[in-house]
Amino acid sequence: MLHVSEQDLTYYNTLGLKSQARAFLRLHSVDGLPALSEMVSRYPGVVVLGGGSNVVLAPQIEDLVVHVETRGVALLDEENDASVVEVQAGEPWHHFVSVCVDRGWNGLENLALIPGTAGAAPIQNIGAYGVEQGDYFHSLVAWDIRRGVQVEMGPSDCLFAYRDSFFKHAERGRWLITAVRYRLPREWQPRLGYPDLVRHPGIAMAGAAVTPRQVFDAVCDIRRAKLPDPAELANVGSFFKNPVVDASTFRALRDMHHGIVAYPLDDGAHYKLAAGWLIERAGWKGRRLGPVGMHERQSLVMVNHGGASARDIQILADVIRAEVATRFGVHLEQEPVEVGAATPEQA
Ligand code: EPU
Repeated sequence: MLHVSEQDLTYYNTLGLKSQARAFLRLHSVDGLPALSEMVSRYPGVVVLGGGSNVVLAPQIEDLVVHVETRGVALLDEENDASVVEVQAGEPWHHFVSVCVDRGWNGLENLALIPGTAGAAPIQNIGAYGVEQGDYFHSLVAWDIRRGVQVEMGPSDCLFAYRDSFFKHAERGRWLITAVRYRLPREWQPRLGYPDLVRHPGIAMAGAAVTPRQVFDAVCDIRRAKLPDPAELANVGSFFKNPVVDASTFRALRDMHHGIVAYPLDDGAHYKLAAGWLIERAGWKGRRLGPVGMHERQSLVMVNHGGASARDIQILADVIRAEVATRFGVHLEQEPVEVGAATPEQA
C-alpha cells in the first residue's frame, strides 16, 4: 500500500533547504512499484529522492516525491576470482561500504563516508580518492516508472564518466534504481595514488602490508578533517565539478597562474583542474554571501549557515561562476541537481 501525503523536506536534503512536497510517499519495498506506475499520471512528474545529498530543492515541489527506503546487502554470486554483491537502493552508501569491509569484499573502501544512498551512487558515478563506483560496477536493476517494467542494465548501458552517467541525461523521473551490484575481486590491490591518501600516517606506516580496513579508516579520517559533516553544517559536498580543459589551455593557465592545481587525464590530452583552487584564488574560501558560503577548509563545498533557500544557493553559485570565468576563463558546471521549479517571485 502506498500512502501519499504532504511532507516537509527540510530534513530530507543535506543542504537543509526549506522545502515542501505536495505529494510524498515512502517506498519500503519494490512490491509497491507497479502501484507507483499506475498513480504517476496524476502528478506533473516524479522526483526520486535518496539521501538528498546531491539536490537543491525548490521551496515547493509539485511532483510526486518518492523516498526510497528499501534496505539490504547480500552476496549474489561467488565467481572464481570475485564476489558479486547486491545492495538495495535505500541502503546508506557508507553503511554498505562498511559491511563490505567487514565481510572481506574489498575494492570500495576509498569511497567510505560518501553521503547518500546506494541507489544514487551510479547516477552521478560517485568517486573519491582515485576510485569511482563505475570501476567495480557489475549491473543494476531499475524500474522504468513510465512503462511499468523492470530493466537490468550493465556498465555499457550506464555510460559512466566523471560525475556522469546515462541517468543524468535521461528523462527526469523516469527511472528508479532499485538495486546495484558490484563485482569485487578477491585479489585486492590498494588504490593509493591520491596524494592525501598516500601521505596519511596510517597508510605510510602500514607500507606494503596495508589492509582494506586501514584504507577505509584513512579515507574516513581525511574526509572528516576536510569536509563538513552535513549533520553539523548543511552542505551537498562539492558544488561544482572539477573542470576538464585541453593541454594547451592548461599550459596557458599555468603560465599565468602560478601554482594552479591540475591532474593529467589518462588520454594525455586533457587536464582536470581543481575547482577548489580556482574558487579559493577567486577569494571565496570561507567567505559568505547572505546565509550561504564556501567552506573554510574546502572552497568547493557550499554550505548553508542557516535559513537559506534555493534562491540564495543560486545567487552565490552565479557569482562564483562569473568570478572564476572572468579570472581564469574557465566555466564551472554545477554538480547537484535542481529539483522543483522556481516559484514566480523567485523567477
Ligand atoms: N584545493 C585548494 N583549495 C581548496 C580546495 C582544494 O587549493 O579550497 C586544491 C588543493 O591543492 C587540493 C586539491 O585542490 O589538494 C584537490 O582537493 P581535494 O583533494 O579536496 O579534492 P577535490 O578535487 O576538491 C574531489 C571530489 C570530491 C572527493 C575528492 C577526493 C569532485 C567535484 N569532487 O574534490 O568529491 O571527495 O576529490 O577524491 O570531483 C563530492 O563530490 O561531494 C566530493 C566531496
